[in-house]
Amino acid sequence: MATILEARKIEKKYTLGGQTVYAVAGIDMTVEEGDFISIMGPSGSGKTTLLNLLGCIDRPTAGRVLVAGRDTTEMNASDIDRIRLHNIGFVFQRINLIPILSAQENVELPMELAGVGAAQRHRRAGELLDTLGMSRRAHHRPGQLSAGEQQRIGIARSLANNPGVILADEPTGNLDSKTAALIMDCFKTLNRDRGQTLILVTHDPDVGASAARSIVIRDGRLDFETFS
Ligand SMILES: Nc1ncnc2c1ncn2[C@@H]1O[C@H](COP(=O)(O)OP(=O)(O)OP(=O)(O)O)[C@@H](O)[C@H]1O
Ligand SMILES: [Mg+2]
Repeated sequence: MATILEARKIEKKYTLGGQTVYAVAGIDMTVEEGDFISIMGPSGSGKTTLLNLLGCIDRPTAGRVLVAGRDTTEMNASDIDRIRLHNIGFVFQRINLIPILSAQENVELPMELAGVGAAQRHRRAGELLDTLGMSRRAHHRPGQLSAGEQQRIGIARSLANNPGVILADEPTGNLDSKTAALIMDCFKTLNRDRGQTLILVTHDPDVGASAARSIVIRDGRLDFETFS
């Protein structure tokens, strides 16, 4: 099985007003193709920071992140941008769809950035909307969609360039429990039926229990890991 993502002793240190905070304090992690990993831990324990390091949104102050076997440590900004665009999909708690674009156009946007032609982009976005059960909302703008529908568009968008891994930071955090369960079903289906590799940060123990691997972090360190 291929290794999709690897963190080697990664650290993220912030110094503010003479005070040093280790948001992430030396984490090793190996993510294999098809993994479904949940990350849990108290507020401020470093979950978002860890996810942003794994997804190359942020750079570690020490340690290495390897994406699809490639060490990102010495990469310049444009190479990192390319890795992010092609290898990693993000789903956020605040979904951040572009309000003036339709659902379909929001899903097409990452493909446009990657230089995919209009016809192929259109076809792929249509397939993804179908996968997420959103075909009938393709021409709606985000403001005309419910929060759960917007998040399904967010997931479709994250899948646009067929990334090796999807990183999701509390993707159900703003949703009621019924809608959250529906979004979790989308993730579970993507993992089970398509082998999509997923890493999901959550505060919800039920969501955590859906994952095959659960990691708990505390004070920026890996506290323990369970497999189910
Ligand atoms: N840009 C920053 N500058 C300084 N400190 C930061 C910065 N970002 C995060 N931190 C600190 O790093 C620690 C970890 O933050 P992080 O956002 O990763 O926590 P979290 O586990 O995601 O919390 P939550 O569950 O509340 O989202 C916190 O103590 C936070 O104050
Ligand atoms: Mg967070």
